[in-house]
Amino acid sequence: MITAETARLNAICPYFTMFPLDFPLGVLKVRATRNARVLDPFCGRGTTSFAARLLGLQTIGIDASRVAIAATQAKLVAPTPEEIVNAARVALSGARQSVEVPEGAFWTLAYHRDVLRDICLIRHALLRDPLDSQVAPALRGIILGALHGPVGRTKQSYFSNQSPRTYGPKPAYAVRFWTKRGLMPPRVNVLAIIAERAQRYYGNASERVIGAAIEGDSRRRATLDEACEIIGKFDWIVTSPPYYGLRTYLPDQWIRNWFLGGPATVDYTSKGQLSHSGPDRFVTDLRDVWANVGTHCRPGATMVVRFGSIPCRQVEDPVQLISASLEATGWVKTNVRPANSAARGKRQADTFHRQRSAPCEEVDAWAQWRP
Ligand SMILES: C[S@@+](CC[C@H](N)C(=O)[O-])C[C@H]1O[C@@H](n2cnc3c(N)ncnc32)[C@H](O)[C@@H]1O
Repeated sequence: MITAETARLNAICPYFTMFPLDFPLGVLKVRATRNARVLDPFCGRGTTSFAARLLGLQTIGIDASRVAIAATQAKLVAPTPEEIVNAARVALSGARQSVEVPEGAFWTLAYHRDVLRDICLIRHALLRDPLDSQVAPALRGIILGALHGPVGRTKQSYFSNQSPRTYGPKPAYAVRFWTKRGLMPPRVNVLAIIAERAQRYYGNASERVIGAAIEGDSRRRATLDEACEIIGKFDWIVTSPPYYGLRTYLPDQWIRNWFLGGPATVDYTSKGQLSHSGPDRFVTDLRDVWANVGTHCRPGATMVVRFGSIPCRQVEDPVQLISASLEATGWVKTNVRPANSAARGKRQADTFHRQRSAPCEEVDAWAQWRP
């Protein structure tokens, strides 16, 4: 049974432009049969895969960002909270001198020295030590979710100095922000935060499901071949591609990317991401994904795409963009309708930084695979 408690795991790690769980859940619950295989080729934090898990359906999530993949993997496992806390405890007892700790003004102000060392010990263990295949993704997801966020008045839920939850602040800006306000990083109890989160997210988690998250470019045939090898051809695609104009998925997740083995500086590369250099190129890239996905689907498979674009003044009608991207792909558009998500707090675009965007209305496009 799906309850507020079993659904909690979906919130383990915030991410940009996540759609509400109700969206994939609503689509799949009513229409997908028991043996349906579900794919999200732009899985982000894994909302579709998590909806599939709650319904006991097999699922694959694909994303070009390793942060997205780590967040999705955390939603496909089912260790006990005790197993997670034990793994963290073992990692924290590792040899401190062998662990690399980033230096500089940003890191000094972002984390209390002892907290940063603890984070680095766990990072080291997750990168180097063979950990249980159920426990490691869960511990990784918990740390990613706790890495940066607001400082509590009485109780601390995050490791960092005052920060946004959804994206990592850029170093120069953050240092100015903290220095101007005299904000020092709190000395939080890393293990206690992990224990609380382990209980919250895995204390009532439903059984894990057959599925996986694959880091890759969904335009590439080999990526979809790999997905099919795991569970076979797909019946349902529920997804949301990057909103046209939003290019910052990787740099905005730079601290989480560092935790996963990336550099301790902002990574401005856009490896594997769809091109936003112009609407034509964007549509062509999307078309490549839809055609590639289609050839890995069973006949009659259904695809539902939530789509928007940012910011309004630069756009390009989202209905026109998504319709053009489906043309000559083998997908037959059956319906395009407003996502009815304009109310604040419902749009996935609401997770944007206010100054960065004035999101347009989102649309849901439905299509059927009829090659
Ligand atoms: C709108 S977000 C998806 C959010 C997701 N619906 C959720 O609820 O978290 C789009 C995602 O597409 C990914 N992406 C961009 N280009 C890609 C590509 N060529 N292949 C796979 N993923 C890609 C981005 O990294 C980003 O995570």
